[in-house]
Amino acid sequence: MGNEKIKYKGQEIIENLDSILKSDHFHFELKGLTKPTRDIINEVVQRILDRVGANPLTSFHLFSGLMEALLNAVKGNIRFVIFQDELLSKLKGAGQTPEEEAEELLNTILQTEPLRDAMQRYIVPDKIKKTVQKILTLTDKRKSKKQLTENDLEFLDLVREKVKKYDLRISLKIEIRPTTLYIRIRNDSPIMGMDLSRIQKSRGRHAELAKEGKSAEFFRPDFLDEKESAGFGIAMIDEGFYNLALDPLDCFDIQTSKHATSVYLNYPIDALQRMEF
Ligand SMILES: Nc1ncnc2c1ncn2[C@@H]1O[C@H](COP(=O)(O)OP(=O)(O)OP(=O)(O)O)[C@@H](O)[C@H]1O
Ligand SMILES: [Mg+2]
Repeated sequence: MGNEKIKYKGQEIIENLDSILKSDHFHFELKGLTKPTRDIINEVVQRILDRVGANPLTSFHLFSGLMEALLNAVKGNIRFVIFQDELLSKLKGAGQTPEEEAEELLNTILQTEPLRDAMQRYIVPDKIKKTVQKILTLTDKRKSKKQLTENDLEFLDLVREKVKKYDLRISLKIEIRPTTLYIRIRNDSPIMGMDLSRIQKSRGRHAELAKEGKSAEFFRPDFLDEKESAGFGIAMIDEGFYNLALDPLDCFDIQTSKHATSVYLNYPIDALQRMEF
């Protein structure tokens, strides 16, 4: 198979879309989720949906779910870089630990789940959240050629260097299978701490509301305060499935390990072709 694979970058994907779409398997490597990247993914998804004869009304739900999952992957990686970096500087700053030992200690901490989760307490989540948001905003600004200050540019370069150092990637796989459209999003950072169990609990609550035919009530403000970081992103993906009359607990799965998080989205093709929702 190896030498049959052709690699395209950015706009080349759009230019070669007709021949790319002859295959049933697509594999993308993403660096971020700036406007040009979102546009390319949108075009690819639209064409795939056309190919499988999907009802055009499905594309909104599918595309927004995919964007939420990709955004989580992008944020997850950036957050993990900042987390490791802060931890490393704390280990070094703590005194006697020389550079190499600090790196080793960091690795041990990252490999040992209870330790890693304990360390989360020393890294202020709010600070990380703000930094991630700042990085995303500045990257978008730079992509759309808006003027950035010297300081911001330096900051972005530093971040880029770190992301490179930790070599964290994001991949998007799409396969047209005989009865389903299969999508896998994978990023090289774990879902940390109690987040996964919180996510599962919150998805369960959303499912209960859906059973009563009122899944959208999940987004009412009185549900908000309970959710901490089991936030709206994943709930939005679930809601997309509910809107397609599909059960997200069957179609959408999240798996995480020490090194990576994978999100699986399965859309039965006959459900995409349905004419009424
Ligand atoms: N692909 C991923 N990699 C790493 N962590 C993830 C990933 N997806 C979700 N998470 C974790 O699960 C939490 C819940 O995700 P969700 O998208 O539902 O919430 P959110 O409110 O959108 O949060 P965020 O704005 O941080 O994405 C995130 O805050 C993050 O900590
Ligand atoms: Mg999110």
